[in-house]
Amino acid sequence: MKRLALLLASACLLFGTAASAADFGADRHVARGLECASCHGPDMKNPETPDENTCLKCHNRDQIAEKTNSRLNPNPHKAPHNGDCTLCHLQHEPEENYCAQCHKFDFKMKH
Ligand code: HEC
Ligand code: HEC
Ligand code: HEC
Ligand code: HEC
Repeated sequence: MKRLALLLASACLLFGTAASAADFGADRHVARGLECASCHGPDMKNPETPDENTCLKCHNRDQIAEKTNSRLNPNPHKAPHNGDCTLCHLQHEPEENYCAQCHKFDFKMKH
């Protein structure tokens, strides 16, 4: 019991406090009614590490590409390589323009 409380306390430090200050992707998903399990699987003691396939259970890449096409050129939602969602849309940290490591694309991440 004591151990569980400790675990919960550290989880709050990591995610609760930082989150309310910064509002990361995972918080925005939770605010829309998603649970941690929808990205990490049911066993939060051994959370699955989400990848693109996790995101694509709910999101449709072609639809996103179409919606963002006028704003993004080239469009990372149709990238020829390195297009994994979680490289840019980090969920517990600020999002980042991963392509900029190698290219000079000027994508503005919203958050
Ligand atoms: C269980 C369903 C589900 C999963 C899994 C999921 N999302 Fe979402 N996501 C949503 C819903 C619902 C919304 C709100 C409606 C919308 O904008 O499509 C949303 C919104 C978003 C948004 C736009 C709004 C914002 O606040 O940022 C981004 C970007 C996003 N998701 C990225 C991701 C990424 C990256 C992953 C994988 C790590 C992911 N999502 C996994 C359901 C999901
Ligand atoms: C190279 C970085 C990058 C990658 C990789 C990437 N995105 Fe995005 N995504 C962006 C940017 C930049 C925007 C536009 C932000 C804005 O102006 O709203 C965006 C917008 C979105 C949106 C909001 C679209 C809307 O309704 O306006 C969703 C949802 C989303 N991405 C999901 C995904 C998913 C799912 C994947 C993986 C299949 C993915 N993204 C891969 C950079 C990326
Ligand atoms: C929209 C999907 C999404 C939701 C919802 C989400 N996470 Fe995550 N989580 C991720 C992604 C993606 C990573 C990988 C690192 C990153 O992107 O920040 C991650 C990483 C983690 C990690 C580090 C271990 C690992 O698997 O890499 C922990 C612990 C974690 N999340 C806990 C939580 C908790 C607790 C909740 C519920 C409050 C939650 N997450 C909700 C997507 C999500
Ligand atoms: C590790 C470095 C690296 C990363 C990260 C990277 N690229 Fe590239 N990219 C390259 C190299 C090198 C080439 C040229 C060789 C080739 O065509 O494969 C290239 C070529 C391209 C091309 C075709 C050439 C052109 O200019 O018409 C596109 C489009 C592209 N990348 C988009 C992206 C997008 C979008 C992302 C982010 C999702 C991304 N790249 C991430 C290294 C990278």
